[in-house]
Amino acid sequence: MNLLQQSLILSCSLAFFTALPVSAADIAAGEQKAGTCIGCHGQKGSSSNAQWPNLAGHPATYLANQLKAFKAGDRVNVMMQSMTANLSNEDIDNLAAYFSSQKPVKAGGDATLAKAGEAKAGMCLGCHGAKGQGNGQFPRLAGQHPAYLEQQLNAFKTGSRKSGPMQATAANLSEEDFKALAAYFGSL
Ligand code: HEC
Ligand code: HEC
Repeated sequence: MNLLQQSLILSCSLAFFTALPVSAADIAAGEQKAGTCIGCHGQKGSSSNAQWPNLAGHPATYLANQLKAFKAGDRVNVMMQSMTANLSNEDIDNLAAYFSSQKPVKAGGDATLAKAGEAKAGMCLGCHGAKGQGNGQFPRLAGQHPAYLEQQLNAFKTGSRKSGPMQATAANLSEEDFKALAAYFGSL
């Protein structure tokens, strides 16, 4: 391919991207819809109960992906499947933008276990971020309730929650590893 062809392709693809309709997610609209969520996930997405994960500060892409997965039945949870059944894609994007924009909290974790977890956490940081802060499709682990993290790791291991990379990661870890990793990330 010569230079002219290359630059033609480049300008065409740029024109394509700039011509896409702007569908900026609306944080204020998300906040309006979030009234039905905070009973479980807490004010501003910071939950005081480990049954219900913190949503604050997760990447918006991750939150939207999960809401779509619950709605489609690809991620199985009775409560969340019914909560998402009537949400449109626009509602989902707005809710994701709202919770993502909220300040994350620290759930905390057992200090001794957290130390053991720190020693094993290196293999997680490439995807979940150097501080477990998450990025794009990769969820935030930092500050999440340890009991929730542990439960999800178990779900990946048994295959009741699907994800290629996480099922492969969890397959090689023991329940003790899960506890330690969960305590470490919860304490960040
Ligand atoms: C009745 C309680 C309840 C309500 C109300 C509820 N949720 Fe949930 N939510 C849960 C539970 C329980 C889970 C964990 C599911 C699991 O174990 O897989 C969850 C998980 C999630 C997750 C995945 C989090 C993660 O880290 O993967 C998202 C995103 C979410 N909820 C968003 C919402 C939104 C948005 C609303 C409001 C429209 C909402 N939830 C309302 C109970 C609830
Ligand atoms: C190759 C990339 C990759 C690596 C390495 C990785 N993860 Fe993940 N992890 C993911 C992806 C992608 C998801 C989201 C899966 C989905 O969409 O349901 C995820 C989800 C999770 C979740 C669910 C979080 C939530 O909010 O529900 C936990 C817990 C988790 N990972 C822990 C870990 C731990 C601990 C390690 C290291 C032992 C690790 N991950 C290593 C890619 C990775």
